[in-house]
Amino acid sequence: MPPVKVLENIFWVGAIDWNIRHFHGFSYSTQRGTTYNAYLIIDKKVALVDTVHHEFCAEMIQKIKEIIDPSKIDYIIANHVESDHSGSIKEILKMAPNATVVGTANCKAGLEKHYFGNWKFQTVKTGDTLNLGERTLTFLEAAMLHWPDTMFTYIEKDALLLSNDGFGQHLASSKRFADEVDQEILMWEAGKYYANILWLYSSVVTRKIEEVQKLGLKIDMIAPSHGVIWRKDPMKIVKAYLKWASGAADKKIIIVYDTMWASTEKMAKAMLEGIVSEGVEVKLYRLPVSDHGDIIGELLHAKGLLVGSATINNGILPTVAPFLVEMEGLRPKNKIAAVFGSYGWGGGATRTIEAVLKSAGMELVLPAIMTKWVPTTEELQKCYEFGKEFAQKVKAAE
Ligand code: FEO
Repeated sequence: MPPVKVLENIFWVGAIDWNIRHFHGFSYSTQRGTTYNAYLIIDKKVALVDTVHHEFCAEMIQKIKEIIDPSKIDYIIANHVESDHSGSIKEILKMAPNATVVGTANCKAGLEKHYFGNWKFQTVKTGDTLNLGERTLTFLEAAMLHWPDTMFTYIEKDALLLSNDGFGQHLASSKRFADEVDQEILMWEAGKYYANILWLYSSVVTRKIEEVQKLGLKIDMIAPSHGVIWRKDPMKIVKAYLKWASGAADKKIIIVYDTMWASTEKMAKAMLEGIVSEGVEVKLYRLPVSDHGDIIGELLHAKGLLVGSATINNGILPTVAPFLVEMEGLRPKNKIAAVFGSYGWGGGATRTIEAVLKSAGMELVLPAIMTKWVPTTEELQKCYEFGKEFAQKVKAAE
């Protein structure tokens, strides 16, 4: 694909990774691929904002060459150290050896530890500016969105915010702008991205957005480093971030479980029937045939969570662990939860799950429900009532 003009003298020179299916190791599924967005600003001085994963370096360089000789790059703005954005800096510096890398102090330390390069580096902090000629770049530190080094770059002349990971989506597309793609898919991927990458930092998200609002920056466009560019209505994603960061969710429930000999599954399905009887939307996910990145994405929008497991070795089925570990780390705000499971003799799965949910900050609104061996008709009726009661609590919750 050729470079894409984003605004006068600002070009997308990134890459589309159609085939990536896992991110951050295997912790986050990316069924729709992703993009690595780099932006080339042509002015009296030339700046490249972020680069691409090293696998796509040649593609990026080819795009730059269609606009300018890469040796003319004066600045590489490194908004973030992580290698999906910094992975081609070394190659660019081979072509533009006099270029200065610009980033935060944490960025400098991180790049040195990643690439062991002795590069010309300009350290910046919030409010610092860099004049390119007609345009001036203003830098805004955005520590923990989502690494300590992260910053945003703002261009007043264009009312453009280059937000790096913030407001991104793992969404490969031949289209470059948010208004050109399916809105339902876009917002699902933006939410899944938020839940899996930024959820833990929700208080930072709120504070950073408020800080930018107080600065009174005019923002007509938000260009993240993954996915499409928010062009026509950039506040759509800002509003969504404020909602997600607040913990506001729909009155929906998700049931996540795994089963050994179908007893826990029978319990889950009886609960589902009870929830449905209350008119509450519910989704059922068996681990590990369901993708836990998707479940985390669904959980962002759901008020209630039920988690179940059969007991093995006095604890949970190992297949339930990856979901619980990820969710505990993300600390989902403002959720209510309850736990269930079957056992043969001592039990233990429900205790393990309850401990994790509490550690994740969830409110357990019902005592765990357990069934020995195979649930009887009466026990399944209790599960139905359990689901019904949980749905009532979801409906009543703030
Ligand atoms: Fe897209 Fe934190 O890297």
